[in-house]
Amino acid sequence: MFKRRKGLAIDLGTTAIRGLSLTKTARGVGIASLSLSSIPASSEEREKAWKKTAQSLIKETGATHIVISLPGRGVLVRFISLPPVASGKIESILQYEVQHQLPFPLDAVVWSYQILSQEEKINLLVGAVKKDMVNNLLNLFTGLGVRIDFIDSDTFALLNALRFSPDFERDKTIAFLEIGAESSNLLICYNEQMLVRSLTISGNALTTAIEEVSKIEFSEAEEKKIKEGEAQFPTLSPVLENLITEVQNSIDYWRFTQKGPEIKKFLLTGGSSKLAGLKDFFTEKLRVETISFNPFANISYSSQFKEVVEKESSRLAVAVGLALRQI
Ligand SMILES: Nc1ncnc2c1ncn2[C@@H]1O[C@H](COP(=O)(O)OP(=O)(O)OP(=O)(O)O)[C@@H](O)[C@H]1O
Ligand SMILES: [Mg+2]
Repeated sequence: MFKRRKGLAIDLGTTAIRGLSLTKTARGVGIASLSLSSIPASSEEREKAWKKTAQSLIKETGATHIVISLPGRGVLVRFISLPPVASGKIESILQYEVQHQLPFPLDAVVWSYQILSQEEKINLLVGAVKKDMVNNLLNLFTGLGVRIDFIDSDTFALLNALRFSPDFERDKTIAFLEIGAESSNLLICYNEQMLVRSLTISGNALTTAIEEVSKIEFSEAEEKKIKEGEAQFPTLSPVLENLITEVQNSIDYWRFTQKGPEIKKFLLTGGSSKLAGLKDFFTEKLRVETISFNPFANISYSSQFKEVVEKESSRLAVAVGLALRQI
């Protein structure tokens, strides 16, 4: 029997799986379905939990087509500018460029590109990922009766969410940092110029600092971090200083390689951006106004989604960017 196409974006994170489906409405874009399910903290249990949760999510929503993403740290992303060339030639030029950037043979990776603009120059974003990473991700969904429309990366999804939001101003330099549990992703963009970086410091590093100083279990330290927030700053600040250094190094690299104006605003997202006092810490250290990113600013939703959106919007930016691919 003919099955109606039903899209669903799935963000498989370290701490939770998020499912989001967006739909076109008379006034723009609205939420059709949304859920966030926590998964166990241990890495041994993670893949099993991903598979089980994804399976029930697909069943509950009746999804037929999904979009998923790879963590930013597993994907090589480069911004490349080419002089005007025939479109048939782009691929062979990029193939050479990708091989040049990779420490392993080209046939061990899958790669793709997106044209950002074509005026005097062709500006492109190129992404490459190891085939075995993609296969591991695909294996999670075999036998679940869905088609995979697209495999994205967290960083591209974040860029998509940013470009859809009112916070995006093409002619201003914007920095956008997502701090998750195991990964942090940084984007800096101005017009079509872009820097994409995965950073090493994120929420788990903060929890580990409390675990070590207070000599308690990871789960207790996690609770302490969330409950006490700013009161834990003496313990957390060395880790946060390292994060600022990583961000500052990327900003310095941006300044060195791109000719754009100084960063106008700094947007924070990801669950760890909820840490009390973090925005002020960033504003003070980077001397740039730092604000929370709202991925739903241009998306309407009914009251049934209000609670999750309001409580968890910082943990849903990747899901929004993915779901936007399907409408
Ligand atoms: N109020 C809070 N204060 C500090 N940290 C918080 C708070 N709420 C959540 N976090 C942290 O946010 C992180 C989870 O964020 P998020 O859901 O964005 O990560 P994830 O997508 O599951 O992980 P990843 O993308 O790294 O795989 C955890 O490290 C958690 O401790
Ligand atoms: Mg995440």
